[in-house]
Amino acid sequence: MLKIALTGADGLVGSQIVELLKADFEFIPLPQKIMDITNPAQVKEVLSNIDFDIFLHLAAYTNVAGAETNKEICYKINVDGTKNVFDVVSSKGKKFIYVSTDFVFDGTNPPYYENSNPSPPGVYAQSKYEGEKIVKDKGMIVRISYPYRATFETKKDFFRTFKFYLEQKKPLIMITDSLMTPTFIDDIAYGLKYLFQNYSATTFHLIGCKAISPYDASILIADKFNLDKSLIGKTTYEEYIKNKPGLPKLADIRSSKNNFWKMKDFEEGLSEVALQLQKFSF
Ligand SMILES: NC(=O)c1ccc[n+]([C@@H]2O[C@H](COP(=O)([O-])OP(=O)(O)OC[C@H]3O[C@@H](n4cnc5c(N)ncnc54)[C@H](OP(=O)(O)O)[C@@H]3O)[C@@H](O)[C@H]2O)c1
Repeated sequence: MLKIALTGADGLVGSQIVELLKADFEFIPLPQKIMDITNPAQVKEVLSNIDFDIFLHLAAYTNVAGAETNKEICYKINVDGTKNVFDVVSSKGKKFIYVSTDFVFDGTNPPYYENSNPSPPGVYAQSKYEGEKIVKDKGMIVRISYPYRATFETKKDFFRTFKFYLEQKKPLIMITDSLMTPTFIDDIAYGLKYLFQNYSATTFHLIGCKAISPYDASILIADKFNLDKSLIGKTTYEEYIKNKPGLPKLADIRSSKNNFWKMKDFEEGLSEVALQLQKFSF
């Protein structure tokens, strides 16, 4: 059985990967309290004492808005932290997978494939792209986009945030003229299962199969969960980014390489989420 050491195993994405694939792989989670990736000596010591085949690097400073005012800590975790783990993993001759983001593309020239040129628009995006540069051609880069799942106590993804607002009868003002490409986290896990077994030092997009506007995404959520659509108002991208810079406008992300796992579009993903929520409620 392949042994996968990983950072970020308690996070939104990592915890579901471990849950869904734990029968197929031996996971070795390395939480911050055991290995702080910003501490190179600790990284070296921890990694020299464990054996693994692949290192899956998910840990990151993921607060996109917060990164604009906390650039130093964001770079320390996303750039220095990535270098610290990558250096030790490479010196052990082991495989490395870096999980990155569609935010490396600025959204001005869609669609974006694996070989499109990144032009990261904000601090978080720039830091993740710097991380990519450390790994490029020497390890695998897997870009994901707007990951969502049925449940996760610790952190709300965009889907559960929108749903929560509508359930609380709070108004949602959504952009009609921008695009996002939501990705069901279960699909990320099953796509990674293939990539663990078919590793190559190149870039992959594990991304939902259709881009959608945030407005249309919120309407689909309201429809699927019988929530009040009249709470959903409209705005434009230009208006929205006055208060929240750094959001790529047309994040239509695609893959020219994923012929191994069918990624769901948002409507299909919501149907699966609804089924899972029904099961949890019994
Ligand atoms: N969420 C998104 O919308 C999104 C979109 C595209 C790409 N991504 C990428 O996907 C990956 C996973 O994201 P996520 O949303 O699952 O993350 P998350 O839920 O925010 O969790 C972040 C993880 O990073 C770990 N971490 C932070 N600082 C650390 C440090 N100094 N040392 C060791 N571990 C540290 C945390 O570990 P502890 O819990 O032990 O503190 C936590 O498990 C990230 O690389 C992110 O950039 C996310």
